[in-house]
Order: sequence, then C-alpha cells, then structure tokens
Amino acid sequence: MCGIVGYIGSQQAYPILINGLKRLEYRGYDSAGIALVDNQKPNIYKIKGKVSDLENFIGNNSKAGTIGIGHTRWATHGVPNDINAHPHKSMNGKFIIIHNGIIENFSVLKQKLIKRGYSFKSETDTEVLADLIEYIYEFGHVSATDAVRFALSKVQGAYGLAVLCTEEPDKLIAARKSSPLVIGIGENEYFIASDATPFIEYTDKVVYLDNENLAVLTTEGISIKTIKNDEVNPEVQKIDFDFDEIEKGGFKHFMLKEIFEQPKSLNDTMRGRIDLAHHTITLGGLMGVMPRIMNARRIIIVGCGTSWHAGLMGEYLFEEYARIPVEVEYASEFRYRDPIINSEDVVIAISQSGETADTLAAIQVAKQKGALVLGICNVVGSSISRETDAGVYTHAGPEIGVASTKAFTAQVLVLAMMALFIGRAKYNIKPEHYQELIDELISVPEKIEEVLKTSESVEKLAELYKNSPNFIYLGRGCYYPIALEGALKLKEISYIHAIGYPAAEMKHGPIALIDDKMPVVVIAAQDKGYDKIVNNIQEVKARKGIIIAIVNTGDVVISKMADHVLEVPKYKTAIGALITAIPLQLLSYYIAVLRGCNVDQPRNLAKSVTVE
Ligand code: G6P
Repeated sequence: MCGIVGYIGSQQAYPILINGLKRLEYRGYDSAGIALVDNQKPNIYKIKGKVSDLENFIGNNSKAGTIGIGHTRWATHGVPNDINAHPHKSMNGKFIIIHNGIIENFSVLKQKLIKRGYSFKSETDTEVLADLIEYIYEFGHVSATDAVRFALSKVQGAYGLAVLCTEEPDKLIAARKSSPLVIGIGENEYFIASDATPFIEYTDKVVYLDNENLAVLTTEGISIKTIKNDEVNPEVQKIDFDFDEIEKGGFKHFMLKEIFEQPKSLNDTMRGRIDLAHHTITLGGLMGVMPRIMNARRIIIVGCGTSWHAGLMGEYLFEEYARIPVEVEYASEFRYRDPIINSEDVVIAISQSGETADTLAAIQVAKQKGALVLGICNVVGSSISRETDAGVYTHAGPEIGVASTKAFTAQVLVLAMMALFIGRAKYNIKPEHYQELIDELISVPEKIEEVLKTSESVEKLAELYKNSPNFIYLGRGCYYPIALEGALKLKEISYIHAIGYPAAEMKHGPIALIDDKMPVVVIAAQDKGYDKIVNNIQEVKARKGIIIAIVNTGDVVISKMADHVLEVPKYKTAIGALITAIPLQLLSYYIAVLRGCNVDQPRNLAKSVTVE
C-alpha cells in the first residue's frame, strides 16, 4: 500500500528516487510523485498513473537536487488523480510530505484546521497531516522536527512518513507507525524506503525504524527518537541481498520468473534445515519455544489472501503429522472477534511481506491474550518477523509479482517442515515414515522442475479457455486449499470470475452453474479421496461441464473421462500435493497474458496491504 523513498546526500537524488519507485511499484501504482530540493527550493512533480508516466511527465524539467522524496500510491482516500497524488504540500507551502498508511481521525483534524482558516486541495488524509504539521510549526514556533512529532501525537492510524520543510531544507524527517520504514546508511548519505530494494546498490547497512519512532537525517548524521521524545539507540543491521533477485532475468514478467524459480526457492527454504545424511529437520528459529509448542492445546493459523490458503494446507499437515488441533482464520476476521485464546495456544501468523496490517493486528490480539505467537514470513526484518516471539523465514527471495506464487509454495513447505519437526519431537511419526516424508520433502523441487517442462501444453490450454467468463476449481482434502489458490490466482490477474470449492460440496450449490461452457478445474491427484473425486468428475460430466483435471503421471481412469489433463509426477503424501499448485499458477499466468492483462500489476491490487 504505497511505496515511499527518500534520499539525502551528495549525489543527485532523482535517479535514486525514480529507480527506487520502480522497485516499490508492487506496493501500489495508482499515481506517483517526486519532490526534489535544489538550492533550498523544492520542485514537485506528480501524476496519476505509473512511475513510467511520472518519468515522461517530468521529461526535461529540472531534476536537480541532492535531497528528495518519492511516492507510488495505492489509493485509500480519494480517487487516483493528479491532485490526490503525493507529495502533498501544506497550505502555506512550508512542508512537503509523502505518506503510506491511513490517518483514521483525519476528518476531525480537517474540521479543526478548516476552523483555523485552512483549505484543502485534495481529498487525502495526507494533506491534512501536512497542514497539521505546518499549523503547529507556525503557531507553536517550534522546529520542523518538533512540529512533526507533536502532529503525530495527535494522529490515530498508521503512517510511514517522509517530510521536507522548506525553511529547514537540509534535513529529511521520517517516522513510522504500523507501516514499514527502513533507513539505509551510506557515507554521509542516507536513504529511507518502505523496503530496502531502492538502495541496495548503495549500501547494505540498514536501520529498521521501530513503531512510533522518528528519525532526522542530515548529511552529518542521523538521530532517532520516539514520538514521546525519548532517545533511541539505532541498531544498524547488515542485509544480504542478491541484486539479480529483483531483476526479471530474461523472463517476460516477474510472475513467470517467480513460477520458474520455485525449484530453487524451495531448495533455499530447506537449506540448512534438513540434514540429508541423518534425515533430520532442525528449525533453529523454533528451538527456544519448543516446550510451549509441544504442549500446545491448539494451533491457530492466521493470514490473508494466499497466505491464508497456505494456512489451510498447514491445517492438514499439522493435524496429520503433529497431531495438534488446528484452526485457520482470516486475520481480518480474527482480530475483530473476541477470540478465546490463552497461554496454551500457539498462533502462527503467515505473511509473505510481513507487513499486512490485518495480520499484524491479529498478532497483537494473540499476544495480549498470552498465546505464543510464531511467524512465517518471507521478508527478513519485516514488522511481523519482529513482532512475533519466534518463527521460520521462508527464504524464497524477493517476490515482486503481485500475485503470490513462490512465496505460497515456500510457506507450505515451511509448514510441512514444522509439522514434521514437531510430530517427530512428539513421537507421533515412526522413524521409517519420518525418513520417507523427508525424502518426499527433498524431492519436491525436482518434481516441480518436471511440471515446469509442461508449460507449453498449459499455454495451449489457456488459449482454448482464455475467453471463458467463469471457472470453477474443485479439490478434496488438502487439494481444497490448492483449488482456492488456483481460483484466486485466476481472478487476481485475468479478472475472470473463479470460485474454489471442496469437490463434495459442489452438489450443494455450484453444480447449478455447470453447463457446456463451464470449465471445471479438478485437482484429481491420487490419494485417499481419489475414488470420490472420480465421482465428482462424473457429476460434472453428466451436466456437460468441461473437465480440466490435474492428475498424476500415468493416470488412466481420469484421463479417459476428462476433456483435458495436466500431469504432475507421482508422490505419496500430502507434502507432495503442493506440486499440483504449479500447473494452476501457469494456467492463470497464460490466460492473463493472452487476455492482455498486466500480470505483474493487476488492477486495484497491491502486494503489501498495510491498511486495514
Ligand atoms: C495482498 C496480496 C496477496 C497476498 C495478501 C497477503 O492481498 O495481493 O497476494 O496474499 O496481500 O499478503 P502477505 O504479505 O501477508 O502474505
């Protein structure tokens, strides 16, 4: 939800900001803007559309300035247009700000400012904050930094903020609450951004700003205090980042690159955690909390979107191998109930970005009630990874495509490793079976490699059904979450209406939708529900529905009944079932491309949802 970037130093800020915005565009792409301070004077450029539109708009205008801020927006308050685009200037022009988050009490603050003579150009909550800062600065006769601090003490909501003051043009003020903000430390130069990607070629030293902290950056140094004005000793951390990971690497889209990266990313997820010689799993991140996990009365998994689907897979894996009852909840629902949780519960929060506002809020609820809270995150150093008591990183590498692919498979693999690790520690899994399960885990990347070789046949199938207005996805048992994920992928990037259903539930409603134009994707790989899924396919065929079946190689039964089959290699357990997600990712991708959709930046979506 909005990406912010800032620079102060001796280099020209423009190239850093514009390239930084391109890397942050996954966070929103409704409008973009930049403010540059040159010879103490600001220049602001902003426009509806993408960062490339901003570049064209700026054209040959002055790009000079060694201090600057930039923003790419996912609209919350006010439609995407040039006026609502950030940066926003305060009424008397003394403050220029960019903001990621929501100021919840903005209308109360706005009314108060109107009474004091302020008028507003945009519909945004951010402009209100700019004016509030200016009002305090002018009438309180305080420094720009104090004005920002006092203003933030009046604000309810979330913010990742960067502020320039035209009367103190040699400094950049940054603050955060709930929205992410990381500071890059160079030699007499500093960067701020929503994540570290805008500045990784300049420095690997970072400070993750804590909640309700405010930083003042000048070329002389950096000072961090809390909003209450207490001194903070910043912890400088080193980040390990491979530049190639954020490039397309010859692929047409990030999504395709990320689908094809899965054999590697899953090996990275397992690296250092599975001892091949001794056939054991060790999850270092959980060691300190194992007694509590072993004694857990219940596990509650929370997440949003694709991460919630991974959680549903986790339910099958944990109940089968760890034999602990599991509930899976949308983080957004969980936080607004009064859930009955206590210190015997373990809550697992799953999040690719580690910044999803609803998931963060669910963590707060669980912590307040005394549960042990674990995180499964992809982004190292993200808010969720810092807020949780312990956890396991997915290490899938940066995921740029808005539709999640490699993060999903990595999340499921981590859940599988956790389930086996805990199951073995609880003596629920016999040693021979444990070895077999670990072998299956290790073989997943290789099997995915095999599936990826079939991408051309998936593309041909996409050509046949690219114009279907609706799709149904069916699966039983652990294939049900995969059906949900397949349907989500399709609707997210191709805008085709798709529903995922447990196959047996089809007869209680969705069967009414089936006719000779309805493609029904059935995950029909071999497991204990195989005979039942054969029946469900018959039911669809009896109503002339079109069956696209995902089957194991060599399947002769379903292959004869289905209109189309996509094969995946054989496996023995629910761990291998993960592989069936790959043809569904490819199918969505090719359908969306054939429909001319912007696969990496689907309309209305953002990758990291830092608002409620
Ligand atoms: C957004 C994204 C989804 C993602 C969800 C949860 O809606 O568009 O792809 O699954 O957020 O994100 P998280 O980072 O918490 O996994």
